[in-house]
Order: sequence, then structure tokens, then C-alpha cells
Amino acid sequence: MSIFKPLGYITFAISIVQFGLLAYSQEAVRLGTPISEGQLAEFDLIATPDGSGFPEGSGTAREGKAVYDTRCAACHAATGEGISGRTVIAGGDMQSEETPLRTVGSYWPYASTIFDFVRRAMPADAPKSLSNEEVYQVTAYVLYLNGIIQEDTLINADSLNAIKMPNADGFIDRSHIQ
Ligand code: HEC
Repeated sequence: MSIFKPLGYITFAISIVQFGLLAYSQEAVRLGTPISEGQLAEFDLIATPDGSGFPEGSGTAREGKAVYDTRCAACHAATGEGISGRTVIAGGDMQSEETPLRTVGSYWPYASTIFDFVRRAMPADAPKSLSNEEVYQVTAYVLYLNGIIQEDTLINADSLNAIKMPNADGFIDRSHIQ
């Protein structure tokens, strides 16, 4: 008997084991199931300054006060002065000669970001628990606390994106630099 014959059997046996392992590992890598449209909608919440991604709805600061007092004031204080450095959301001045204070009002270049951020991340203890209507209302209230709109200014996707924020020109566009 040639010496090559047993070698051939061994090689064949190894291939079978390898194939078995491959099949097993593919079985073991569970790649999950496709996400449903309904589940996706819960994450598809990006509203941008060009006006895209906003749901139907509107609200005023006068309506937003109730939402703010019950859902936000515990962490951001009665008029947005905050309870810690990170929770100050009103006032401040980026042009200050002393320490400039960054807040939503003094720093953020787009009002639409308030809606976008609050809808996805606030209240911090129960994100995504507000209705779209409540998010519009409380967005109006945050703008009102910053002296940017009046109590009865109606905030919706169009009026929100038409607001010129105090620090809108305070940024340098370097997006063209790689
Ligand atoms: C349980 C505490 C808590 C509650 C309630 C809460 N927030 Fe906040 N919020 C925070 C914290 C903490 C931050 C800072 C997060 C960070 O820096 O990452 C924050 C950040 C923010 C910011 C961004 C501030 C900035 O300059 O980056 C906004 C706007 C905001 N909250 C709005 C709201 C609104 C509106 C509500 C009510 C619907 C609310 N928050 C409820 C804790 C809270």
C-alpha cells in the first residue's frame, strides 16, 4: 500500500472537520433579525436646520411653561439657570470679556437643534417620553427663557428654522479643510 493513501484519508477527514466547524460557526454567529419599520421610527428622529425631519405640530412658550415646570425644572431650575454647570440652558454671553458662558441661547447656532435634542434626549430621566406637541411647546419655552421669542410666538418647523440665533455668526466654517 502506498504511503500516500493514508495521508489522503487524513486530509479528507480534516476537510470534513473543517467544513463542520465552518457550518457550526455560521450557525453560532446569530446575525439577528431585520428591524421593523415601527422600531426604526423610534430611532429615526433627526431634525436638521434645513427643515427636514420635523413632525407635524406647533406650540408657544405660554403652553410650554407647564411642560417645563413639571418635566424640566427639577434639573434646569425655574428659569433655566440650572442646578450645575452642565444644566444651565438660559442666559450667558459668548462675547463676554470675562468668562463666556455657553448656553443654548448664547452659543447654539440653530434653534432647530433645541427641538432635535429635546425630542431625543430630554427629559434626561425619561427620554422620548414627550409628545411632539409638547416638544414644540417646551422648545418655545426654552427660546423664550433666552429672550429670543415672545410668549405667544407660534413655533413650528417653519418658524423655528427662520429664527436667527444670537451666536449664529460666531462660527468659522472649516468643513472644506480635510
Ligand atoms: C433628570 C435631570 C434632567 C431633566 C428632568 C431634564 N434635563 Fe435637560 N439636561 C440634563 C443634563 C444633565 C444635561 C447636560 C447633558 C450633557 O451635558 O451631556 C441636560 C442638557 C439639556 C440641554 C442642552 C444644554 C446644552 O447646552 O448642551 C437642553 C436644551 C435641555 N437639557 C433641555 C431640557 C428640557 C426642555 C427638559 C424638559 C423636557 C429637560 N432638559 C429635562 C438633565 C435634565
